[in-house]
Amino acid sequence: MTATLEPDVTSSAPNSQGYCEFTLGQFQFRRDEYFAYVDWPTGSHIMSVDAFLRALQRDVAWDFFYGTVNFDGVIGTVNHYGTVDLFAGRYNDAYRKAELDYTENVETSLIRETFKEMLDDWTNATFDPFASPHETGSAFGIKNGNNRPAITRHRVAAARMVAVPGDEGLRSDDTGHPINRMFADVPQDEPEVYPEPGFESEVAAFSLFAYLSRSPVTWNPSVVSVCKISLFCATTEEYILPIIHGNDRVEWFLQLSDEIHWEVEDRDSGSVRARVVMRPGDVCAMPADIRHQGYAPKRSMLLVWENADPALPELIASGQTPTYPIDF
Ligand SMILES: [Fe+2]
Repeated sequence: MTATLEPDVTSSAPNSQGYCEFTLGQFQFRRDEYFAYVDWPTGSHIMSVDAFLRALQRDVAWDFFYGTVNFDGVIGTVNHYGTVDLFAGRYNDAYRKAELDYTENVETSLIRETFKEMLDDWTNATFDPFASPHETGSAFGIKNGNNRPAITRHRVAAARMVAVPGDEGLRSDDTGHPINRMFADVPQDEPEVYPEPGFESEVAAFSLFAYLSRSPVTWNPSVVSVCKISLFCATTEEYILPIIHGNDRVEWFLQLSDEIHWEVEDRDSGSVRARVVMRPGDVCAMPADIRHQGYAPKRSMLLVWENADPALPELIASGQTPTYPIDF
């Protein structure tokens, strides 16, 4: 018999608003009706709890993602792919100068389980942290049930490609994926594929636009095709990216529909580097030394191209690979 060691999550009994409080190393997390509070030995922080839960949801669903997930300009995580830095003020010039910043390196399994339990306990029945503000109820108020179906959604991660036999399937009304209200005009016809006998599992095609028109979530890149370490991660965006993503590698964006405004800052200091407005057909590459947050005035389709090479963070950090994507 194999025993699985579950890390011990440290949490309190419910507080007077009904929510448990969580301890991770020297960090403490608590919420009340409106806010999330984070305390560490040299400081403390407050965030609106809806924004906190939207960020927490991404960190949990993406298993800490590539590089840095800033919940805002103060707190966040850095993925070291086995361990995770949980930090406060580490990538904020003012906190650094005042020596209020603080970082703990934690085993991934411990921070993963702590964040999962916090997300589960703090998300009320009315709130879906993945949904756009128009498509969810309130995150606020005293403890009111849970929304486990929303916070434990299947994350699309194709082994080869969506629509390949045995891989991630297409979306339809029958699979619980109605066409989003803002994509009512997107054609739903699928390509016709006639593979030679014997190649039925090798030849496939699907309409990415139709697929994305049925995405129930926002700001959640899903792997729709894989070629070795090259991942196409498609996503629909509306309102504000709930995290500020700090890259540890170059990331390419291809705007498929509508418009996204990107605020681009220096990854380590937070100083402003650029504003980028992307319209359909625009392509841009985010360098490996920045952080970025997107604003989408209406639901839009974005293709994110990721290079999943595990050697990249070290190659870039050591200067062997440049932080920019291409020389002209
Ligand atoms: Fe990103």
